[in-house]
Amino acid sequence: MEKKNLDWSNLGFGYMKTDKRFVANFKDGAWDDGVITEDDKVVISECAGVLQYAQTCFEGMKAYTTQDGHVVIFRPDMNAERMANSCRRLEMPVYPEDKFVEAVAKTVKANDAWVPPFGSGASLYIRPYMFGSNPVIGVKPADEYQFRILVTPVGPYFKGGAKPLTIKVSDFDRAAPHGTGHIKAGLNYAMSLHAIVTAHEEGYAENMYLDPATRTKVEETGGANFIFVTKDGKVVTPKSDSILPSITRRSLIYVAKEYLGLEVEEREVLFDEVKDFAECGLCGTAAVISPVGKIVNHGEEICFPSGMEKMGPTIQKLYDTLTGIQMGKIEAPKGWIYTV
Ligand code: PLP
Ligand code: COI
Repeated sequence: MEKKNLDWSNLGFGYMKTDKRFVANFKDGAWDDGVITEDDKVVISECAGVLQYAQTCFEGMKAYTTQDGHVVIFRPDMNAERMANSCRRLEMPVYPEDKFVEAVAKTVKANDAWVPPFGSGASLYIRPYMFGSNPVIGVKPADEYQFRILVTPVGPYFKGGAKPLTIKVSDFDRAAPHGTGHIKAGLNYAMSLHAIVTAHEEGYAENMYLDPATRTKVEETGGANFIFVTKDGKVVTPKSDSILPSITRRSLIYVAKEYLGLEVEEREVLFDEVKDFAECGLCGTAAVISPVGKIVNHGEEICFPSGMEKMGPTIQKLYDTLTGIQMGKIEAPKGWIYTV
């Protein structure tokens, strides 16, 4: 199959319409078989649950071309599980986890020509999503839903590639205690839009959100979890019930311990401790690991010793190992790589 003629190495993180997508519908209490279609348009009622009460959730994962030319997906079973949890919390029907993985693989296969080649630095971003599609006017869950999967080739999430970012501590909160911060609900991202626009206007790449109850603990950013490295080389990552359980972060914890022999602490992280860390990074499917060089809190700057030119040494090792596993250069733990 011939690849599309794209400038693969210079892609940004944006949507590009690809050839095929997956669509399944839930009606009368059951999912239909779902189809791969060329139709990129969604037609729903003007009063659809998603439009009135934001009943929608999504996932994000990536497919890669490995060194030996296979197309692989990184841990899609983890996304299936997280999406099922999102659906349960939002009173939406679960799309069966095994069928989810199958549908993701089918969609990637159908868009083979759009999977960036090995070595380009790009990947195929996969976006499964579900929404309430029938009319809802009283506040209640919809009865009908659509589950779709779109794919789009992407480059780095942050402009400038691997250069350390400057971020700010947000004055806004992202998720409430006992709310929906731990699931991938569209509403969490709607909540973060004003905060990210504000941060960008002020010249920052992202927001560091603190825990809304006490505003003393580090939570996450709008689209990635935090990972810190202490001056004595320990990996520290925030634990909280109101952050998204990042699959990248959970994978990095394993990589740090099992591949790099590092000590890892997953625990509450006080904002007051941040100034003492040696390295900081944002981790996620889109962000991969993006280094943070500086955090600004109302004019007060925290500058990490790793500086503004390159990743710190431990984050670099984590990055190399994780991406090496994803691209088939380093042997993966069992079950991490799904070959399409
Ligand atoms: N946190 C938020 C708010 C996100 O949107 C994402 C992206 O999915 C992550 C963290 C990282 O999660 P993952 O590593 O599973 O992509
Ligand atoms: C992802 O990393 O997959 C996300 O969904 C984050 C989003 C900011 C693009």
